[in-house]
Amino acid sequence: MKSLPLSRVLLLLLPWALVVIVVLDSDTARAPPPAAAPGNGGGAPRARPRAPPPPSPPPIYAITPTYSRPVQKAELTRLANTFRQVARLHWILVEDAASRSELVSRFVAGAGLPCTHLHVPTPRRYKRPGLPRATEQRNAGLAWLRQRHQHLPPPQPGVLFFADDDNTYSLELFHEMRTTRKVSVWPVGLVGGRRYERPVVENGKVVGWYTGWRADRPFAIDMAGFAVSLQVILSHPKAVFKRRGSQPGMQESDFLKQITTVEELEPKANNCTKVLVWHTRTEKVNLANEPKYHLDTVNIEV
Ligand code: UGA
Ligand code: MN
Repeated sequence: MKSLPLSRVLLLLLPWALVVIVVLDSDTARAPPPAAAPGNGGGAPRARPRAPPPPSPPPIYAITPTYSRPVQKAELTRLANTFRQVARLHWILVEDAASRSELVSRFVAGAGLPCTHLHVPTPRRYKRPGLPRATEQRNAGLAWLRQRHQHLPPPQPGVLFFADDDNTYSLELFHEMRTTRKVSVWPVGLVGGRRYERPVVENGKVVGWYTGWRADRPFAIDMAGFAVSLQVILSHPKAVFKRRGSQPGMQESDFLKQITTVEELEPKANNCTKVLVWHTRTEKVNLANEPKYHLDTVNIEV
């Protein structure tokens, strides 16, 4: 047998050498981590007792009155995009309508967050400029909340706030309101004819109101400026928004008077020095060129 030259032998062995190197290398990758040094809890790995899961935060119930108009779906989309990012938020959407609309029903089904869809129409006689809005809808939300919880034993953690569909809410606001014990308050931007309104705080207590409009109100605050604990809502079963004698801008005061006092209020947002919610209002949409009769070949929900 003719002997192979050494160089040929080496060349033939090279692929096998490479295979051995790769196998060794992948074995070290899979190898268990080296045992910890003695004195450092070393030896056989012991099952560490798991830390108990953090307690889940109290749910936040947001009551939103809403009514049919060209911008409704856009407003609800903006709101849902915010609310979806808030842990344990339950949206109570109350339509100002005689029945649930298809548009809102479809929207709720795809909103991607826990949602209760109610409806109640505002009586025709109250649909006039100069009269408070959404009284019946907020009360329907309150009634649903009370009915759902009344037979459950206390304590029932939870925080309620009224989220109009056209406002702008920062995520930080939810963080602040989550710790509401009874009734908490904070500034609201772009409201009352000013850049902001706010409760004035001294030594951690509300002592007055910075506002450009009717400073004589007992609680000179917008609907977007406070939250109430579920416990307070349940222990004051008769507290509702009233039609009789209520003027626009007084609804908040009339409601808060029934459940708390100014001295009791809990200031949030760094002693009411930060604006975390804005009373934005969407401009009335221009539909001047909208045809009288449907001209398009398709029917599109807007
Ligand atoms: C201000 C306050 O911020 C509101 O909380 C208060 O309800 C309102 O005044 C009032 O006058 O009663 P403003 O921006 O003038 O707010 O009111 P809108 O945003 O037009 O309405 C407040 C909420 O009620 C909205 O969520 C809106 O969708 C709803 N709404 C309005 C109805 O459900 N039905 C209506 O006919 C009008
Ligand atoms: Mn508004």
